Order: sequence, then C-alpha cells, then structure tokens
Amino acid sequence: TSTQVGKISDDLSSTSGDAVGSVKQQLSKIFKASLQATFPNEQDVEPLVSVSTAKFGDYQCNNAMGMWSKIKGKSTEFSNPNSIGQALVRNLPASEIIESTSVAKAGFINIILSNAWIAKHIERMLLNGIETWAPIIPVKRAVVDFSSPNIAKEMHVGHLRSTIIGDTLARMLEFSNVEVLRRNHVGDWGTQFGMLIEYLFEMSPNGEDAGQQAIGDLQDFYKASKKKFDEDASFKEKAQKAVVRLQGGELKYRNAWKEICEISRREFAQVYQRLGVHLEEKGESFYNPYIPDTIRELDDKGLVVESEGARVIFIEGQQIPLIVVKSDGGYNYASTDLTAIRYRLREEKAEWIIYVTDVGQQNHFDMVFSAARRASWLPESVGSSFPKASHVGFGLVLGADGKRFRTRSSEVVRLVDLLDEAKNRCRKELEQRLENHGKLGEWTGQELEKTAEAVGYGAVKYADLKNNRLTNYTFSFDQMLNDKGNTAVYLLYAHARICSIIRKSNRDLEELKKGGGISLSHADERILGLHLVRFAEVVEEACLNLLPNVLCEYLYNLSETFTRFYTSCQVIGSAEESSRLLLCEATAVVMRQCFELLGIEPVYKI
Ligand code: ARG
Repeated sequence: TSTQVGKISDDLSSTSGDAVGSVKQQLSKIFKASLQATFPNEQDVEPLVSVSTAKFGDYQCNNAMGMWSKIKGKSTEFSNPNSIGQALVRNLPASEIIESTSVAKAGFINIILSNAWIAKHIERMLLNGIETWAPIIPVKRAVVDFSSPNIAKEMHVGHLRSTIIGDTLARMLEFSNVEVLRRNHVGDWGTQFGMLIEYLFEMSPNGEDAGQQAIGDLQDFYKASKKKFDEDASFKEKAQKAVVRLQGGELKYRNAWKEICEISRREFAQVYQRLGVHLEEKGESFYNPYIPDTIRELDDKGLVVESEGARVIFIEGQQIPLIVVKSDGGYNYASTDLTAIRYRLREEKAEWIIYVTDVGQQNHFDMVFSAARRASWLPESVGSSFPKASHVGFGLVLGADGKRFRTRSSEVVRLVDLLDEAKNRCRKELEQRLENHGKLGEWTGQELEKTAEAVGYGAVKYADLKNNRLTNYTFSFDQMLNDKGNTAVYLLYAHARICSIIRKSNRDLEELKKGGGISLSHADERILGLHLVRFAEVVEEACLNLLPNVLCEYLYNLSETFTRFYTSCQVIGSAEESSRLLLCEATAVVMRQCFELLGIEPVYKI
C-alpha cells in the first residue's frame, strides 16, 4: 500500500490546473488507503465519508459499524466497532488535510480539517482558477435531452421548466469536464403535419408564398387547421394522404414541412436567446429513418408481440404494454424514443442519458428504459453505475390561484411575454432604487437594460431551480423579485456588494493573490472557509442526484455565511485586511461560479 499512499500525496500537492476532486473525494481516498491497510483481505470496501451532522467534526467516516458486522466472529483482531475506528485512524496515511480525528463510541470517526490546508486550498483556487474545484464525475459523454417543445404547438411553462432545469444540469456536467450533447428533441414529426401542410396549401393556393405570411401566428394556424380536420371529412382525407406523401419524401410536402418547422424554430429561438440557453436540435424526424431497424432488432431479441392489432413490448410490473408499432402500421412517441436511446448509446457513445420532462412522462421513460435494458442496450442493473439513463421529472407551475399557470384571459402564457415582464419590472425597480440613492445619473441606459435582464431572467430561473424539482411551484413575480429572502435578486445584490467592498479597498487583488496568507483565526472566518471548500462536493451531489436545488441552497447559505463573517470581522482598515479581502474575493468567485452553473448572469454594481 505504500505506493498508493505516495500516489495520494502526489495528487494532493498538485498545483496544476487539473481538478483534484472535492474534499469528500480527497478524504475518501485517504480512508480507502486506511481501509485497505487495516483489512488486507477486503480490498473493495468503499469508504463512507460524509459531512458531519454532529458538532464534533467537519466530516465523518462511518465504515466501522459495517466492517464490524462483516468480520464479527471471523477475526480476533477487533473486539468492537470502536476498535475498528481506532485502527482506521492509526492506519491513515499522512495528509495535510486532516488536523485531528476522534473516534466515537460506536466507531465512527470525526474529522476536523486543518485550517492551514483550508486556507491553502482557497489560495490555490484563487491563483489557478475555480476550474480546479470541479468535481470528478466518472462519465466522459452525456446527453441531456431538454426543452424539446413541439412544432406548431405552444411552448408552455412546462417547456420553460425543462429548459431551465436541463440547461443547469448541462452546465454542471460541463463544468465537471463531461462532454454534453445538449439535445432539443423537438416534436417535428407525426400525423399532425399532414393537416398543417394541407391547410397551408389551402391558405396559399398558388403554393409559392407559403410561410410566415400565410400562417401568421402558428398557434392560431394550428387551431384552425385542427378545427377543419375535425369538421371536414374531405379535408381529413387529404390531410391523411399528405402525411403519406410527406413521409414518402415528396418535395413539395417536405418543403412545406420545413417551412412550418422553421417558423416554430424562430419562435423558440426568441426564448432561448433571452435565457442564454444553447441547444442542438435533433428532433423526432431525425430518428425516423432508423425506426424500422430498431424494431427489427427488438423483434429479433424476442421482445415484440402482437396485441390487439398493434405490436407491443410487455414490461414487467406494468399493466399496459409499450406500443411500438400502431395497428395502422405507423410509429409513435415510444418508437422514436426507443430509436433515440439506441442511437445515443451506440452511435453517440453517451454514458449517461438524461431526460428532462414533467413527471407525467415518468411512466413512459420507465418503460423505454426497461425495454432498453431487456435489449441489452443498457446494463441489466439499475443503480449508480454507468452507462445509465435517468428521467428528471418536475412538477407543475401554478398560478396564485393554485391552479395551472395561465394568463388572466386563461390563455396559455407566451414565454417571451413572461420573460419580458420580469425584465421590465426589474428595470422599474432598479431605476426607483437608484433614484432614491441619487445614483440614477451614474448609469447609462445600456447598463440599466443589461442589469434588468440579468436580474429579471435570473429571478425567473432561480425561483424555479431553488425548489425540489418534483414539487409544483407557484409562479409569483412579487416573490421572485423581492430583494430580501432566498431570491436571485438578493443573491445578485449580495455579490455586487462584495465586489464593491473589494473595489473600495483600493488594493491590487492580483498582487494579494500572489502573496497568499489567508488566515482563519476568527470562528466566522473558519466557517466561511469551510463552506467555500465544500463547493466541489455540492456540485458533485447536485450533478449525481440531478438536483439543482442543492446548489441553490449552498449559494444561499454562502451568502448568509458571508454576511455573518462580514458583520463580525472588519475587513477594510483591519490588521487582517489582506487575508480578509482574499476571503471576500474567494466568496465572490464561488458565488459567480454558482451563478454561472445556474445560468444566471452576475451583476457587479448596484
Ligand atoms: N416533445 C415532448 C413534449 O413536449 C418532450 C420530449 C422529451 N424528450 C423525449 N426524448 N421524449 O412533451
């Protein structure tokens, strides 16, 4: 084990730009070495290191109990869990991270981190960049399938949630050095296109000026064509023939289809542009040519059976089977998703495929994943290992009345209008605030607009992300734009205030960073320092559990921890000024990285 220990200390002293892993990961390595030294016959025991819930330490290691039940009666070396804890401590390799340990009666080990190490870890981050605090996620490439609205239908608040949550998950994975394929699985295929195309031809009989003019508002166009489809039998027949001609690749029909998709795409782009979200479209139509081959493979593997004229896959534990070929021979949502998951695993070599939709689609994805396991596209075991597929479900967006979020005229809310309203409200409040402080004159119109956008869009995102995604959340401008409490407005302003403390010091931060010298002698300095170095493991947890709210909670607590530090520790003009300014800077850097991961633009002055 001596080489292993040597390797560990090499990793820890690394000051290169490479990520060293979270504190938890680093402690786990040390305890892994100790476990292996203590139990040479049990080399595969995973170290159980977690943040301390008790006040006896910063972290704890909880392996003693489990090891005791494993070896009890088989070994004479240990008499109880406590003696195992003691041995684990004795066998710990030397490490700068740990200041001291104590073993509780039941055997778990309390770990206190070294102040000097915390300080050094922060100093190194300030010099080498926050990227060195990226967690290590054991995946090379992931697909995040998110947003995914449907062509010609409205992009609703559900798609907004998917866009916001999916973007954050993608950002967290990208920060953790995972290559992310950001997939917009738009609904651009299916029988509804026959009716849309046929209606388009009727609206512009000469066929040449198809497009925006003839269509006008795409949602209205959709409704009108649907009405005609339901009421006019000969139109319905024409529409059904149009689908066949489209699928047969007839040029006139393909062009009309493309035109309709393009108009939708331009509308979606307006939302993405405001939110600063990037997606790569691979819509349902992309997978269409690969469906027959996919079904054939599933059939060859004996998974597909006939049922009431349709071809289906029965899934264990599910009453209703997954229909993969409809009774009319056509394909559906499930055939496309089966084809897509196979493509993503085989062609795109993704090790983690993440689908962000409302919880209502949970069952659909459970069935698709089960089928993929039965086809051996995914490994048999469902657990924490990769490759795997995960469904990230979320609850409804509610209005003040507790019902589904709608406009006053009970129409579906246009997302562009919603985002613009957030921005406009922010701009008004910002102008008022500056006016009150006699500072409005110092701001250009462009600065006002940029800040209002950052705060307004940031507020909408944060209000969504801070909740556990599975719960429904109530959309309220008044709440999300409040500058007190757990809101983006409060957090963005808190960050701007830290920046202004640093500016007012008139010190050269780059010089300070080179000098280092952070000390954590005051209790509140230490609490802040400890919270800062926990950043990587929080991102790791948020990533692996697909829970952005974990990061929001960390960010909010960071802001509170900073306030406590700033209240009890004088910064400017104190003997500890340099060290404390570095703590301010580190807090600002970590806050900015949180904002970045949440897709929120930081604000530097208010
Ligand atoms: N277009 C679907 C909807 O609006 C969401 C698609 C989600 N992704 C997928 N691969 N099925 O509900």
